[in-house]
Amino acid sequence: MIAHSLDHQVALITGAASGIGKQIAETFAQAGATVIIADLNLAAAERTAQEIIQAGGQALAIAMNVCDEEAVNQGIETVMAHFKKIDILVSNAGVQHIEALDQLAFSDWKKMLSIHLDGAFLTTKACLKVMYQANSGCILYMGSVHSKEASRLKGPYVTAKHGLLGLCKVVAKEGAAHHVRANVICPGYVRTPLVDKQIPEQAKTLGISEEEVIQKIMLAETVDGEFTTAEDISDLALFLAAFKTNALTGQSFVASHGWFME
Ligand SMILES: NC(=O)c1ccc[n+]([C@@H]2O[C@H](COP(=O)([O-])OP(=O)(O)OC[C@H]3O[C@@H](n4cnc5c(N)ncnc54)[C@H](O)[C@@H]3O)[C@@H](O)[C@H]2O)c1
Repeated sequence: MIAHSLDHQVALITGAASGIGKQIAETFAQAGATVIIADLNLAAAERTAQEIIQAGGQALAIAMNVCDEEAVNQGIETVMAHFKKIDILVSNAGVQHIEALDQLAFSDWKKMLSIHLDGAFLTTKACLKVMYQANSGCILYMGSVHSKEASRLKGPYVTAKHGLLGLCKVVAKEGAAHHVRANVICPGYVRTPLVDKQIPEQAKTLGISEEEVIQKIMLAETVDGEFTTAEDISDLALFLAAFKTNALTGQSFVASHGWFME
């Protein structure tokens, strides 16, 4: 039998019913991991898990609102009851909100920070307990070029994605003694439902065409005018998840066709 880089590993991926998270789940399953599809949308999570199982992988769908402490802890308990360990956490669940800061309701600001930052904290805290007991673990946060760079109309998203860098660095420092590594993946624009939804929203708010949103805003700063793909991001996630030492911890990795260069 061929050995795969994530054989015998259990990976919990939030927001894995769609888009980038789904692609990471598929890639990790192909690499031998048992993948937990944790998502607000249980029906979609179950469809994703079913697709992975039909393709020969191992997957379990669970309902999880990453902002809800009880739901997160319950989800982790379910995973532990089934598989007895969690080797990899991919904190990926996220949404976008397009609005200028002077118009933005406080409730929308708080909702955005909660999904991205409370969600990352709650899943991290629950998984660290399990990982510390096992004396090993890997946490990947889904940041963004917006962890490094700002865009108009994305105040809470940019703020939250910058915040993940800080969380990751603290996890890297605290986790080191327990052989837990943490890194951030920072994608450029990837055509997922999250991006498809904001193209007409940005066009309307900025008074330009959808094609102009794509060419003049989303891809203008790339070196080749191309979107990053979900596969690009899942390949990077696989590389980081399979990496063996603390040489790579507390880092952030931009994959954006050169939109942002460190
Ligand atoms: N698509 C891009 O261009 C892009 C670029 C950089 C970063 N990202 C980040 O990648 C991540 C995934 O985005 P995507 O583009 O695949 O979006 P997507 O909309 O395709 O998928 C997001 C998933 O998260 C789930 N979700 C939303 N809120 C949740 C919650 N509270 N609890 C649990 N699950 C929840 C949704 O049900 C959905 O299945 C996000 O964190 C996003 O900010 C995306």
